[in-house]
Amino acid sequence: MGCGTGSYTKILLARGYEVTALDISQNMLEIAKRKCSCKLIKGDIRDITINEKFDACIAMFAVMGYITENPDIIKALTNIHRHLKQNGIFIFDVWNGLAVMRILPEQRMKVVENNEIKIIRFALPNLRAFDHICEVNYKLLILNKLQNTVDEITENHIVRFYFPQEIRYYLENTGFEVLKICPFLDLNGKVDENVWNITVIARAGGEK
Ligand SMILES: C[S@@+](CC[C@H](N)C(=O)[O-])C[C@H]1O[C@@H](n2cnc3c(N)ncnc32)[C@H](O)[C@@H]1O
Repeated sequence: MGCGTGSYTKILLARGYEVTALDISQNMLEIAKRKCSCKLIKGDIRDITINEKFDACIAMFAVMGYITENPDIIKALTNIHRHLKQNGIFIFDVWNGLAVMRILPEQRMKVVENNEIKIIRFALPNLRAFDHICEVNYKLLILNKLQNTVDEITENHIVRFYFPQEIRYYLENTGFEVLKICPFLDLNGKVDENVWNITVIARAGGEK
């Protein structure tokens, strides 16, 4: 769910998993198509119907952060549950509200480059604490070293952060059992106010 450009779909396919990848963005799917030979579907996590039940659903790299409204969270989780087999696993990661409210989002700059291009990304956050939202305005400057040109792209991302106990509440009320809430990629770690990204692993119980 929320496969984006297919980077981890590609890894899962290489490991021999049978994957169906879904994203709401046609542009993302066009790139994913070049990298992944599997079923790619354009759709919204909240209401897509795929006539299949899956062993697992993975929504990695803050996909659930793009589901920002409470009723939509319920819709998305209910829909994911509907597409999982009994005891199917749902794995996702989100920003941890405990850390967001303690550390606070700040302005950041990131630079990546190779011989041809240099990309400079500025991230300007605007915290809307009451709504559990951080709006991040990204400005990217793309310097083409060969052609001596500069392009500018701006994007506004509205990202929801989640508190551990609300995650538990939403999942348990949509038919899931929470197996683990841990720091991102650290199954044995402990979540506290210092851990910005958290991974959640839940198991789908019987029909709700
Ligand atoms: C931060 S990106 C992560 C992309 C991908 N998982 C990766 O790791 O490269 C979030 C992705 O979620 C997708 N997305 C956001 N809301 C969605 C929705 N309601 N239904 C399906 N996909 C959604 C976006 O189009 C985007 O590709």
